[in-house]
Amino acid sequence: MAVSTTDRGSWNSKLGFILAAAGSAVGLGNIWGFPTQVASNGGAAFLIIYLLCSFLIGFPVMVAELTIGRNSGKNPVGAFRSISSNKFFPLVGLWGVICGVMILSFYTVIAGWAFGYAFEEIFFAMGMDGAANWLTDTGNGVKNAIIASVFMLATVKIISGGVSDGIEKATKTMMPLLIGILVIMIVYVLFQPGSSVGIREYLLPDFSKINAELIFAAMGQAFFSLSLGMGALITYGSYLNKKENIPQAAAFVTLTDVTIAFLAGLLILPSMYLAQANGVEIFQDGQLVESTTLVFDVLPALFHSMGAIGTVFGVAFFLLLSLAALTSTISLLEVPVSYAIDEFELTRGKAAARIGSGILVISILISFFPSLIDYFIIIFNNIGLPLGGFMICVFIGYFWKTENAINEMEYGFAGIKQTLFTTVWPFFVKFICPAAILYTLGQILYGLFF
Ligand code: TRP
Repeated sequence: MAVSTTDRGSWNSKLGFILAAAGSAVGLGNIWGFPTQVASNGGAAFLIIYLLCSFLIGFPVMVAELTIGRNSGKNPVGAFRSISSNKFFPLVGLWGVICGVMILSFYTVIAGWAFGYAFEEIFFAMGMDGAANWLTDTGNGVKNAIIASVFMLATVKIISGGVSDGIEKATKTMMPLLIGILVIMIVYVLFQPGSSVGIREYLLPDFSKINAELIFAAMGQAFFSLSLGMGALITYGSYLNKKENIPQAAAFVTLTDVTIAFLAGLLILPSMYLAQANGVEIFQDGQLVESTTLVFDVLPALFHSMGAIGTVFGVAFFLLLSLAALTSTISLLEVPVSYAIDEFELTRGKAAARIGSGILVISILISFFPSLIDYFIIIFNNIGLPLGGFMICVFIGYFWKTENAINEMEYGFAGIKQTLFTTVWPFFVKFICPAAILYTLGQILYGLFF
C-alpha cells in the first residue's frame, strides 16, 4: 500500500504514548459524564459497579485492543482484516469507526460548553452579565455551533500535525495540572458546611439501587471513559513499538482514568448539594432536573460563591477541562482518519479536513437540538461500545486465539508467560468479559421488548 511512514506515524517516546492514551481516556467522560451518572443512578451503588466494570471488563479489553493494534499496525478495519481471513470482523471495525464519528459529533458540542464557561467566568467577574449569560445558554444553537466549530478546527489542526508532535505534546502538561486543581477544589469543598450530604451519597452504597439499568449505564460509562470498544486503542496501539509493555501501559491508563473520575465525583457530588443550598435547582421528585447540563450549572455556582479566587479557579478549571476534552476528540478523530489514510490512501491533512468537516455537519445539527445527545449516548455509547468490546473479545478468544495475543505481548514484557497474567487474562477475554457484556445488553433489550 502506498502510504508513506510519515503519514502513518508512530510515537516518539514511551511517555508520549502513555500520555496520549491517558489523554484519550481522561476527558468529559470523567468530569461531566461520571458525576452526572452517579447522581442520576443512586450514588455509591453506581460507583461500585463502575469500578468493577472498569477493572474487570475495561482493563482486559484495553489490553486486547492495544495488542491487536500493535500486532497489525493498522486502523480498526484493516487490523481485523490483516490478522484473520474471517470476513465478518472488518465490519466490527467499521461499526467502531461509525460509533467514533457519532460520539465525536456530540462530544464537540459538550466540549464547546466547557470552553464557553471558561470565558463566562471572566465576563461574570467583570460584571458583563449579557456576555456571561450568552455563553452559559446551552440551548443557544448558534452559539453552540460556533464554539463546536472552533473545537473541531483545533482537533483537525492537531491531527493534521501527525501522531507524535500533535498528540503527545498536547497532553504532557495538562494532566498533572488537572489533578492538582481537582484536589485543591475538593479540599475547599469539603470544608464547606453541608458538603457531607454529598459525600454520604457518593460513598455509602445503597445496594438496593443496583438494577439492570444501573449496570447498563455503568458499563457504558466505563467503556466511554476508557475510550474502549470502537478501536481508538487499536489505532493508538498501531503506532506502538515492540519495546512497550502493553499490560503495564494499560494498567497505568486504567488507574489514571478511574482516579480522575473518582476525584471528579468527590468534587461534584458535594458541590451539587452546596449549589442546591444556594438555590440551584437540582432534583425534582427525586430525579435530576437536567442531566446533560448539570455539571455546567453546579460548578459555576461553586466558583461564583468563592469570590475573586473563584474566578481564577473557574477559568483554570474550564480551560483544563477543554484541553482534556481536546486530547479525547483527537483520539476520536484519529480513528476515521487512520482508516482513510490506510484504506483510501489519502494524505493525513486531507483526511483530517474532510472527515472533520463531515462530522461538523452532525455537530451543528446537535448544536440546535442538544436533546439528541441523550439518544446518541444510548445507541453509540451505551450499546455501541460494549458491543464492540464484546466482538473484540470474541475475536481474540476464538479467532485469533489468546496464545497469539500473549506472544505479541511478550515483546516488551519478556517474562509474561511465567506470570499469572497469562492464565487470568485469557480467561477474562474468553469468558468473563463477553458473558458480562452479553448479560448486561441482553437484560436491557429484554426490558425494552417485554
Ligand atoms: N474517554 C473520553 C472521555 O472520557 C472520550 C473518548 C475519547 C472516547 N476517545 C474515545 C470514548 C473513544 C469512546 C471511544 O471523555
